[in-house]
Amino acid sequence: MPIGTEDPVFKGFQVTELHPTFGAEISGLDFTQPIPDETFQDLLAAIAKVFISVLGTVHVSALTESNMIPVSHVEFSRRFGELDDVKRYMQNGRKLRYDFYELFDAGNVDENGQTVDPASPRAQYNKGNGLYHVDSSFNPRRASYSILRAVVLPPPYTGGNTDFADTRTAFAELPEDMRQMLIKNDYVGAHSLHHSRKVAAPEFFKDLDPTAFDMSRHRLVQLHEPSGRMSLYTATHAHHIEGLPQAESDALLKTLMEHATQDKYTISIPWKDPGDMILWDNTAVMHRAGEFAGGYPRDMRRTTVHDSSSQAWGLNAKDTLAQGFALDGGPTATMASAPRPVAV
Ligand code: OGA
Ligand code: MN
Repeated sequence: MPIGTEDPVFKGFQVTELHPTFGAEISGLDFTQPIPDETFQDLLAAIAKVFISVLGTVHVSALTESNMIPVSHVEFSRRFGELDDVKRYMQNGRKLRYDFYELFDAGNVDENGQTVDPASPRAQYNKGNGLYHVDSSFNPRRASYSILRAVVLPPPYTGGNTDFADTRTAFAELPEDMRQMLIKNDYVGAHSLHHSRKVAAPEFFKDLDPTAFDMSRHRLVQLHEPSGRMSLYTATHAHHIEGLPQAESDALLKTLMEHATQDKYTISIPWKDPGDMILWDNTAVMHRAGEFAGGYPRDMRRTTVHDSSSQAWGLNAKDTLAQGFALDGGPTATMASAPRPVAV
């Protein structure tokens, strides 16, 4: 049955499915005022079902001052839980382009409003976003929801979609012996931001050794608590599976990533208008930034909600510090000796 139609309980918005197993466009929410509690509870229920939601535009014209938009993005996000912030990335003189530490800069625009040079450290670092991943699996406390908002988009039909993969259906449809083997072994993945940056830009990060840094440990197969279904929790950040010889670990991670990102488990969502937001649940989907024609600015800002499920910290001690990454403005040479994780 199409997502949403069996649930007349969803009040205050409409749900239009985008794919047979996940993804929906949610329209009709009024972002010009606080969303009533009852509507918000319905929204959480709808999201638990669909895992990614396109929330529609926060229209600039509906707000009196342009700086109200980040406020409402951040305030809306706070309803979902405690927010992560970017303080630990603010090293080597990198400046924020706006007043909110809760906004992660996922675009290609620098603090002067210029499109970043593709050869720059920041562009090299951003390449990692083009590989399927989940946000924050490299942190001791992982992320549940990410809420990404478009501020400036490349012209229509030049690319720049965001693609998603349904890791819940992918797990359910693994060959039965593989599924049983994964459940029985209860593997732990070791995740590293340094690793995924290096996979995406090997030449630029050739001197970076991901094993010189602490990795974050999260179970590979998990119960997705909001839906009660099992999900694969992997990503390009997954450097290895603990307890397996490296070659076996590499092969298993590759098999699982290839399986989960087949066309039938993925959806590519085009951004329509500046102000549109897409919300996804990092514990049930992977995502990646699609390619787009070079030279255009694409200004995207994201809030990231700390997971509150029983698996939020994985096997990491709660006093483990999150990874910092002294990158922007720093030459390659300093990256291999990026500071140890810093407190946030
Ligand atoms: C992110 C991300 C993808 C995109 O913000 O976490 O991966 O399409 N973004 O910009
Ligand atoms: Mn991401």
